[in-house]
Amino acid sequence: MPENTRILLKRQSEGVPVADDFETTTAAMPSPEDGELLCETIYLSLDPYLRGKISGRHLSGAIRPGDLMAGEAISRVVESRSPDYAEGDIVAAHTGWQAYSTPKAAELRRIDPSIGPLSTFLGILGMPGLTAYAGLLRLGEPTADETLLVSAASGAVGSMVGQIAMIKGCRAIGIAGAAEKCAWVKDVAQFDDCVSYKTGDLRAELDAACPDGIDLYFDNVGGDTLQAAMERLRLGARVVLCGLMAQYNTTEMPPGPNPAWIIKARATVRGMVVYDHEDLRDAFTDDVSRWLAEGRIHYLEDRTQGLENAAAAFSRLMRGGNVGKVIVEVGEE
Ligand SMILES: NC(=O)c1ccc[n+]([C@@H]2O[C@H](COP(=O)([O-])OP(=O)(O)OC[C@H]3O[C@@H](n4cnc5c(N)ncnc54)[C@H](OP(=O)(O)O)[C@@H]3O)[C@@H](O)[C@H]2O)c1
Repeated sequence: MPENTRILLKRQSEGVPVADDFETTTAAMPSPEDGELLCETIYLSLDPYLRGKISGRHLSGAIRPGDLMAGEAISRVVESRSPDYAEGDIVAAHTGWQAYSTPKAAELRRIDPSIGPLSTFLGILGMPGLTAYAGLLRLGEPTADETLLVSAASGAVGSMVGQIAMIKGCRAIGIAGAAEKCAWVKDVAQFDDCVSYKTGDLRAELDAACPDGIDLYFDNVGGDTLQAAMERLRLGARVVLCGLMAQYNTTEMPPGPNPAWIIKARATVRGMVVYDHEDLRDAFTDDVSRWLAEGRIHYLEDRTQGLENAAAAFSRLMRGGNVGKVIVEVGEE
């Protein structure tokens, strides 16, 4: 009787996951019910989000000890109990770390092997590719001649981000770890440059590679790499927060605002500088003066008499001791 090999999560990983966190088991061969298919796994995708599922922090839900490890796979249909699929069809589905599975037909994506090698439907033609394509083009809005910087540049997402950006006419600069990764990014993926955060001085190398700053930063890692990129943003730059490799294995979150909240909420964070909005001056004055006259706006002032007391009042303001808008009464009204 043939058996199914399945890999379960044995215990929650601490730090970087190790092989002992997982357990290989055998089970009876699954049998499809109506509307299901028996599928034989050909390629299984391993992706960083699985680490977030193990720690229970990923938005798609947790994997708990004893659960089958999750993951998307490309499989061949061995037996179909759905009119939509036939034996031999190639499909993609989140069937997990197992040799055979019985997904429902509605959960499958049909794969056309004539488009590309089967494994690419888990990479450049799969979820990471779509992440790069949508994140760059829809959220990043690149335009020709801009400088794009992307971290984890030799990876599934990052390598696509840079290459699509170049197709759109951008200069693409990558950040990667090992020298061999940087060499692949430059020599094979043909990025304009790739700097390492491991072998050199990241900030100095970024200054050399992006002398005019960064128009678009696509972040896959967070942490100090995000910080270094932010320091070099140009006026009107866009930042796409995509991944946080630097903190997936940690339990203590780094200080400062955690980009995870922005990613989870699909929030837009924009820089505000009042000087850019002088064109609203007349509309603003009309609206607020009317609201004031209508009694719909209230205000609080913290008044100090005499210019000689201005410094003390300013000091109080900067300690948070003021109550309302600080005004110094200097002359007669
Ligand atoms: N938001 C979304 O919907 C979405 C979808 C897919 C993927 N993602 C994210 O996109 C990022 C890239 O995913 P991928 O599948 O293409 O993976 P990947 O880039 O193939 O592999 C991850 C890479 O991250 C880099 N990295 C940087 N700092 C790291 C650290 N402290 N620890 C471990 N690795 C570190 C490593 O490359 P270097 O050595 O070159 O730094 C590593 O090879 C991940 O953050 C992932 O979570 C997000």
